[in-house]
Amino acid sequence: MRTIDLILKKRDGGELTNSEIEWFVQNFTSGDIPDYQVAAMSMAIFFRGMTTRETTDLTVAMAHSGDTLDLSDLIPGVVVDKHSTGGVGDKTTLVLAPMVSACGVVVAKISGRGLGHGGGTLDKLEAIPGFQIQLTSDQFRAQIKETGIVVAGQSTSLAPADGKLYKIRDVTGTVASNALIASSIMSKKFAAGAQAIVLDVKTGNGAFMTTLEDARELAELMVAIGQNSGRSTVAVISDMNQPLGYAVGNALEVREAIETLRGEGPPDLREHCIRMAGHMLHLSGKVDSVSSGSELASKTLKDGSAFHKLIKMVSAQGGDTKYIDNPEQLDQAEIVSTIKSHQDGFLSRMGAINIGKAAVILGAGRERKNDPIDLAVGIVVHQKVGSRINAGDPLFTIHANNSEKVAAATKEALAGIEIKTEKVSALPLHYDVVE
Ligand code: URA
Repeated sequence: MRTIDLILKKRDGGELTNSEIEWFVQNFTSGDIPDYQVAAMSMAIFFRGMTTRETTDLTVAMAHSGDTLDLSDLIPGVVVDKHSTGGVGDKTTLVLAPMVSACGVVVAKISGRGLGHGGGTLDKLEAIPGFQIQLTSDQFRAQIKETGIVVAGQSTSLAPADGKLYKIRDVTGTVASNALIASSIMSKKFAAGAQAIVLDVKTGNGAFMTTLEDARELAELMVAIGQNSGRSTVAVISDMNQPLGYAVGNALEVREAIETLRGEGPPDLREHCIRMAGHMLHLSGKVDSVSSGSELASKTLKDGSAFHKLIKMVSAQGGDTKYIDNPEQLDQAEIVSTIKSHQDGFLSRMGAINIGKAAVILGAGRERKNDPIDLAVGIVVHQKVGSRINAGDPLFTIHANNSEKVAAATKEALAGIEIKTEKVSALPLHYDVVE
């Protein structure tokens, strides 16, 4: 086979065979195909697309490009995983993983760091002093046995083809291809040993997919890839026009997740986690319907068992559990400034994109991969779209460690806020479920 022939075939709208895709993935992973030819192929895929069959083959080939985790000897029944396409204030994993584990279903999750205005679970976990996100494979497996819950970082040996391809896509304008996004996400889940997958596909101004149509298209493709590869897959399309919950920023989000695990916390975050847990418990075979899964999961918030699971996980991964018992002791920013409304009315916009960008300005997120972040800073919003607001009511609070950044972050957050005199409906939390 010659790389140039495969590029020409895709460039001219042809359909690559499974063996051509496997060959291409193997050879670019080993470095035998130079980056410029991988870039050309990415661009050909970007413009010509891939059939669902080709995308599934690409996913499986990338999943097998390095080590794969096989947890079936440790986890009785179906190994179920969850993935979010990313959003502002999305601390779902911190709440959901302990809930599902408290229901008796093992959660062994590989998570990532944040980039741009979307946060990353690993950064949030690192706001807990001592918490180790880099585990060896032996430590990962031992913790599953001991606690039934582990959330850790990805080793470079899992799906290395995806890591390599993503770096090239990132600098060649070829990230925004559904076939490439879907295969990238799903290959990492397959490599991490998932036998069933619940996808949280976000849509809205703060999401990767801003329109519902685009989110549905991506969700359908990922569900098809899962099903075609023998993995039950469900996608929940959820709102990302405003932040999830109130807190945006690492330590602030950990605090909010702890409140939620204690049976309090923001209603939207609680409801979202209960719904996602229902799907995970259903796919795992623990319950026979999503609603009974949600019912079971909501009990873990009331009886303290989910909170107790978080303590177990934090302790197993070297974190200091005193911060889970006393989250107010987590790192706090020096400057706390609350912005109030000047007018009466109804909140019609609390742009997730603006709140996310404001959090990055404060240092809660990173623009480039290796930028340092400040775990204490961020923004807490006080209103949700549809809320009735009186002049003088708080809109959001900035938590900053650098006074020079406060004005720019405030300006960015305010640019995302709109208040109308007529009544405004609340935003739906979920738009659709694709299965
Ligand atoms: N997230 C991924 O893991 N891959 C993509 O291509 C886009 C988002």
